[in-house]
Amino acid sequence: MTIPEAIRRRVETLRAEIQHHNYRYHVLDDPEVPDAEYDRLLRELQTLEAEHPDLVTPDSPTQRVGARPLPEFREVRHRVPMISLDNAMSDDELAGFHRRILSALQSEAPILYTAEPKLDGLALSLRYEHGRLVQAATRGDGSKGEDVTHNVRTIPNVPLSLLGADWPEVLEVRGEVYMTRAGFSRLNTAMERRGERPFANPRNAAAGSLRQLDPRVTATRPLKFCCYGWGEVSSSPGESQFEMLGRLAGWGIPISRELRRVSGLAGCRDYFEDLGRRRDALDYDIDGVVFKLDALAARQGLGATSHHPRWAVARKFPAQEELTLVEAVEFQVGRTGAVTPVARLKPVQVGGVTVSNATLHNMDEVIRKDVRIGDTVVVRRAGDVIPEVARVVIERRPDDAGAVVLPTQCPVCGADVIRPEGEAIARCTGGLYCPAQRKESLKHFASRRAMDIEGLGDKLIEQLVDLDWIHEPADLYHLTQARLAGLERMGDKSAANLIEALERSKETSFARFIFALGIREVGESTAQALAERFDGIESLMRVQETDFTRERGLKGVGRETAEGLHRFLSEHPDLGAEGDLAGAEGDLADWLAGLGIRGLSRARAVRLVERFGSLPALRAAELQDLYFNSARLVEGIGPVVAAHIAGFLAQVHNREAIERLLAAGIHWPAPERASAESVQRPLDGLTFVITGTLSRPREEIKEWLQGLGAKVTGSVSRNTHYLLAGDEAGSKLAKAQALGVRVLDEAGLAALLEQG
Ligand code: IVH
Repeated sequence: MTIPEAIRRRVETLRAEIQHHNYRYHVLDDPEVPDAEYDRLLRELQTLEAEHPDLVTPDSPTQRVGARPLPEFREVRHRVPMISLDNAMSDDELAGFHRRILSALQSEAPILYTAEPKLDGLALSLRYEHGRLVQAATRGDGSKGEDVTHNVRTIPNVPLSLLGADWPEVLEVRGEVYMTRAGFSRLNTAMERRGERPFANPRNAAAGSLRQLDPRVTATRPLKFCCYGWGEVSSSPGESQFEMLGRLAGWGIPISRELRRVSGLAGCRDYFEDLGRRRDALDYDIDGVVFKLDALAARQGLGATSHHPRWAVARKFPAQEELTLVEAVEFQVGRTGAVTPVARLKPVQVGGVTVSNATLHNMDEVIRKDVRIGDTVVVRRAGDVIPEVARVVIERRPDDAGAVVLPTQCPVCGADVIRPEGEAIARCTGGLYCPAQRKESLKHFASRRAMDIEGLGDKLIEQLVDLDWIHEPADLYHLTQARLAGLERMGDKSAANLIEALERSKETSFARFIFALGIREVGESTAQALAERFDGIESLMRVQETDFTRERGLKGVGRETAEGLHRFLSEHPDLGAEGDLAGAEGDLADWLAGLGIRGLSRARAVRLVERFGSLPALRAAELQDLYFNSARLVEGIGPVVAAHIAGFLAQVHNREAIERLLAAGIHWPAPERASAESVQRPLDGLTFVITGTLSRPREEIKEWLQGLGAKVTGSVSRNTHYLLAGDEAGSKLAKAQALGVRVLDEAGLAALLEQG
């Protein structure tokens, strides 16, 4: 039978393309297209070859498992080949696998399978002889891999020698090398900081790290190993997969915590669904579940094809990366006026969801990723995360691809768009005159964690703004039931409910109210901190930017020097007493400069003396008054947030908007000002001295103890209740012991607090 020319050509094209992607993926660790696209090409080739067996050649990519080893590594021949797994892309294909097992085994009893995650890393074979790791090899093409022993020895969870003694003399353990998501993101952050190109995903990062010629580089990479099988073994220590892995685990080899034994097709399905639900919560990437016939003896009858065993299957999850086209880039205006580029995509299924938009975050991101209109891009979706453009496939860029240009006018209200120096975000200057900003700030105001106005959803807010009924939050409280009931899709009942919800929302908390205002960078926790620090809206409205970051201490004196001096003075309470010093300023400065405290030059000593006047005053000073620092009025509010808060509250239209809200009846309970007697703190009335090296800076511990009610002094006396002593405690410890003062370490303190 003659094969049509078009099919021959297609087969050639597919082979060339697959070969190219193989090289990018396996050799360069830098794939051009997502795995799903690669799988599709391979499947298409497999189908064509199955239909026209004459077209199969020995060098077709379907005829081998992976790519050639890198030339720099020594070659390792696998005595038991490392074959791969057949995939089941659907539930039907899984059922087909189970049916084939049933008919091959002709068994009545339920079939047991082991189930475990299909880790997305790279396969590794570890050879132990007499319990010692002698060789580690990658899979390579399945029969020959690369010797990566020197690198694998740096992976912390790979045992260099096995625990126990009853292991087989020769034991080849097989599993996956991978990187956790946390490890991956730490690595990429560090690489970006060093100006290096980050890895595309944890799999590439793992592969790139394992194939370092220099093991010292590998050692810095957060690699992990997880065993799922074995190769050559001199004697088999178990009769089932489950038992075997249990034995391996007993010898110290890491296996998956998710390993389970399940029964029949139903057991497989349950496991697949359960793990699929938990997929995003795992700290490592998986692309499916592997089911293996548990009984080793039964596997014999099934055998393997040249590529994969018939007793195992990989049930794959839907891909989380796909290719699609950028049809346009539009700009959205957010609550604070941020103008965000959004890619309008040719709709594509990603992980079972249709994706047609993806945020591009800001113009820096557009430039960094070099996204243009008409580009083919990889879109990625992980769990609930908003879909994003992972990267552009430059190779597919058309000649007429259009540049993305930041508009100079707001696409919604026409006001100027500005992008302040050094900022990534461009903003519409229309403020609340811009309907987009108005809509978004009203949505925020009404949201559950802000004013919690039930029934006032996004659609309704948009309608109200479009009708020009609502200009600012206070207008919401002047809506009437009659007016609302006249709206499209709004009956009497829902109008009445909304009015009631608005009424209910008037009784709120100070923190919610601050959060609802939508001040830039003021999230729930900052709002909460502000609400705790200020006793009402009037005092908050009086706050100045500089109130948040008061400057303390002496310019030119650093923290280390100040700490040195502070420590010295508190550890030597008697030194420099009257008489030791003549009292003249010059003498005191000389004396201080002569103490040998790091960084305490004579010039600095003179300034300290000018500021504090006398040694007792210097002794009484708090550490924060000795070195230059900005004390925070509210924990967590630094200069940037302070500027946003003060800036917002300084604007007349914001102040008036707040006043109108209060006039509309919004209120919250007055703060409880606890009277001195009523506050009971665990360390009230106790005097502490702190010494030695502790888990946190001493100043921090001091503040913490004071917060618990303790008085913290600098020297041990008979009035001291406790000495909190860290490592290398010196003279104070001796003095405490001499005076019979109780000494605690941090654990002792924790125990004391627990007792109450
Ligand atoms: S078993 C003979 N189990 O997937 C069976 N493989 O396509 C050999 N993989 O090369 C593989 N997790 O790199 C097996 N729990 C698991 C796995 C797993 C990931 C990888 C492995 C293999 C590829 C097969």
